[in-house]
Amino acid sequence: MNRSAPAPSALPLRFVLCGAVDDGKSTLLGRLLCDCRQVFADQMRKVEEDSRRWGTRGDEADLALLVDGLRDEREQGITIDVAYRSFETARRRFIVADAPGHEQYTRNMATGASNAELAVVVADARKGILPQTARHTRIAAMFGIRHVVLAVNKMDLVLWDRSIFQAIADEYRSLARDSAVENLRIMPVSSLTGDNLTRRRDSAEWYSGPTLLEHLETVDVESSIERESFRMPVQYVNRPSPDLRGYSGRIAAGRVAVGDRVRISPSGTETLVESIVVWQGARERAERGDSVTLTLANEVDVTRGDVIAEAFNPPGVTDQFQANLIWMSDRPLVVGRSYLLKIHSREVTATVTRIKYRLDVSRGSRLAGATMNLNDLGTVNIATNRPIPYAPFERYPGLGSFIMIDPINNETAGAGTVNFALRRASNIRWQDFHVTREARQELKLQRARCLWLTGLPASGKSTIANLLEKRLHAEGHHTYLLDGDNVRHGLNRDLGFTEADRVENIRRVAEVARLLVDAGLIVIVSFISPFRSERAFARGLFEPGDFNEIFVDASIEVCAARDPKGLYARAMRGEITNFTGIDSPYEQPENPDLHLDTEKLGPEECAELILRQVV
Ligand code: ADX
Repeated sequence: MNRSAPAPSALPLRFVLCGAVDDGKSTLLGRLLCDCRQVFADQMRKVEEDSRRWGTRGDEADLALLVDGLRDEREQGITIDVAYRSFETARRRFIVADAPGHEQYTRNMATGASNAELAVVVADARKGILPQTARHTRIAAMFGIRHVVLAVNKMDLVLWDRSIFQAIADEYRSLARDSAVENLRIMPVSSLTGDNLTRRRDSAEWYSGPTLLEHLETVDVESSIERESFRMPVQYVNRPSPDLRGYSGRIAAGRVAVGDRVRISPSGTETLVESIVVWQGARERAERGDSVTLTLANEVDVTRGDVIAEAFNPPGVTDQFQANLIWMSDRPLVVGRSYLLKIHSREVTATVTRIKYRLDVSRGSRLAGATMNLNDLGTVNIATNRPIPYAPFERYPGLGSFIMIDPINNETAGAGTVNFALRRASNIRWQDFHVTREARQELKLQRARCLWLTGLPASGKSTIANLLEKRLHAEGHHTYLLDGDNVRHGLNRDLGFTEADRVENIRRVAEVARLLVDAGLIVIVSFISPFRSERAFARGLFEPGDFNEIFVDASIEVCAARDPKGLYARAMRGEITNFTGIDSPYEQPENPDLHLDTEKLGPEECAELILRQVV
């Protein structure tokens, strides 16, 4: 492995620009772009014209108009909420994420932060640290930003008064300490005049630090992150011809050279790098940021989402970790519910097993919470259904950030960063036993499977399930019936009817059904199971074809009229809350394996249909 000193990084510095509305973010960015000559003459002329017409600065160009104009342009048509802009000086290239200030944009701020190494937080010298300033600092810190600059702006309007600056700086320092900011710079600036942004203000001789631009050009953000060890998540397996198999991806950390020994995670297989191909041709070595295709010396099994890494320092592999999470969906996070989790190029099913706390972003205090709503930030435990190669975000950003997708609507519901693993996946191993499901079902002369009946209360699930089991039993099959009312007397007696409790109710019964199918039985599940997410979760536990969703359908009016247990009547009188169909939703199956209309078919006919069409 090549251990020589790294070349000066050609990678740009990514920073996020944030702060309260009106504190002068746009003007500050406009000034940077303008003084770095990144603004073209025609844009500048337009700004001067607009300034005369709309601006507040007389004949002087109002630079905020420039940036706001660019942002409008960016946002038209494409709903990109964080505007990225790049500019460069002779010393460095920069990518700025311009994050909107309003509270409803918290998620955009988080998105901007999760792609940045440094945050420039703008505050107005006349207003000091506002709740939004604090909020943005905490979000930035939560998403792994360790380098922060507080630009105390509009110093010209307080006549460069040192004591005003000091008071703001003191307040901000204690905020930053609480938020685990490691490298903090506080500077007095005026984005209107450019003082201490791109040129030094001589009359404020009490400030001896660098200008903002000097600091941005020279700040070392690399050394706080461990980027030496080679890691490349495989984005796709490239097979241009039968005898050539390459693994393509972007190098997330470190460097790689032909002949290097690498290990594939999570499988643990080791081999050597045979060749490195980039779009221009073959290469001897490549480094972080390069998009490459690697070929390996041996025929090894590598799939999309695996990580190819340095053999003597591979990444960890886990299926449970603690993470910082921001929730971005109108549908609240439910503990125990399954979501799709995408981490680097790997996709797994994941559940939040515990919300440790939510963060009060204005005050910095920790709140207890059973759920997370839109724009909430929190620290949570996550479990995945398969082990994932990972790294703490702090050390390897490319391997430690993820998004969570709600499988019901394919919406990005959350985004987060890995803090640390709660256990190594290898601590609990799946034991392989000799007597398999196949052997067990063979002895019973049947094919084991799960018949999952879902429907409103009083739709007829239990009656049909009972008849179905009788018929199967009479035909010599080995069966078991799991019924909501019965299981709630034992295994699930600690659960009620809130959304979270129902999610857990279904999770447990689905796991039990899986065990019983593994035992070789035909398992009938008769639970309301009102949510699509949990039914999808249950299906996901089984091999394709082993799980059949049967929708026992009757309108709410018919169910309420049947009401064998008198529960609808009680729910309508308000004596039972969270009653399915009354004040708790029932999400109808979209593609059930069988749809039984119990308003037209009797229970015997329904059981018969299941036997004929499904079993
Ligand atoms: S589920 O929604 O979590 O799948 P489950 O099938 O276990 O429900 O339990 C439903 C049974 O609990 C019903 O048949 C009914 O007898 C009883 N029950 C009591 N309270 C409620 C309620 N609020 N909503 C629905 N069912 C209830």
